[in-house]
Amino acid sequence: MAHDRARADGTAAAAVGEPLVVLADVDKHFGALHVLQDIDLTVHRGEVVVIIGPSGSGKSTLCRSINRLEPIDSGTITIDGQPLPAEGKALARLRADVGMVFQSFNLFAHKTVLENVTLGPIKAKGMGRAEAKKLAMELLDRVGVANQAQKLPAQLSGGQQQRVAIARALAMRPKVMLFDEPTSALDPEMINEVLDVMTDLARDGMTMIVVTHEMGFARRAAHRVVFMDGGQIVEEAEPETFFTAPRSERAKDFLSKILTH
Ligand SMILES: Nc1ncnc2c1ncn2[C@@H]1O[C@H](COP(=O)(O)OP(=O)(O)OP(=O)(O)O)[C@@H](O)[C@H]1O
Ligand SMILES: [Mg+2]
Repeated sequence: MAHDRARADGTAAAAVGEPLVVLADVDKHFGALHVLQDIDLTVHRGEVVVIIGPSGSGKSTLCRSINRLEPIDSGTITIDGQPLPAEGKALARLRADVGMVFQSFNLFAHKTVLENVTLGPIKAKGMGRAEAKKLAMELLDRVGVANQAQKLPAQLSGGQQQRVAIARALAMRPKVMLFDEPTSALDPEMINEVLDVMTDLARDGMTMIVVTHEMGFARRAAHRVVFMDGGQIVEEAEPETFFTAPRSERAKDFLSKILTH
């Protein structure tokens, strides 16, 4: 299904390919709370999907279920045609296919920036040190922090740390990147430097699932906005359509709240 379209700034979106991440009839409870209700979501290769919705609507849980940080009660999740394995080596392999970037940067505090990025390829993929270092330096350069490689994470700004976290995830050569509110812990002046890196990634054709309320990013980079509320996908649309003409009352209500502050 190719639904590439011109971006707001005139650059063409990368063509969108076959299904890569497929959730079908996914249900999950936390005790009495039905946190994911009958979720059907297909993300295609090269597609950028922004997930938006009120606090507690299940956005993080959905992301975490995609790389099995959270088990689901029923339904299926497949990545590139493979069902999510329950445990063991197969699960480790699958996790390598799914890069994850969180709100808190989660870097290893006592390792240098370079070591943070080389660790995964060396430990999980058996890559040689020299090759891992070369790859890491390329990726740190790509996210604009190559000159920070020998520092410890605490010596970097929040925006720089988040860009290192993105480089670290990319070092595993993931098939899809999940971002869970990657800029919401950042000071305003650092938000754009992270969003710019994400926009470049999107342009390069990375498949991305991004939980964010950054509408500028959604308009610039997303093919589709998925609106969640109360554990359900309530509405999905192209960004422009969603932000200017939401259909559901719940989306209208949510947008009126985020647009007024
Ligand atoms: N480990 C857990 N145990 C019990 N309840 C949980 C757990 N994790 C999340 N929840 C609950 O599940 C619901 C959905 O949480 P989730 O973090 O997925 O929401 P969210 O949409 O990401 O919210 P936010 O915008 O605040 O990040 C919330 O009511 C939350 O309190
Ligand atoms: Mg969340």
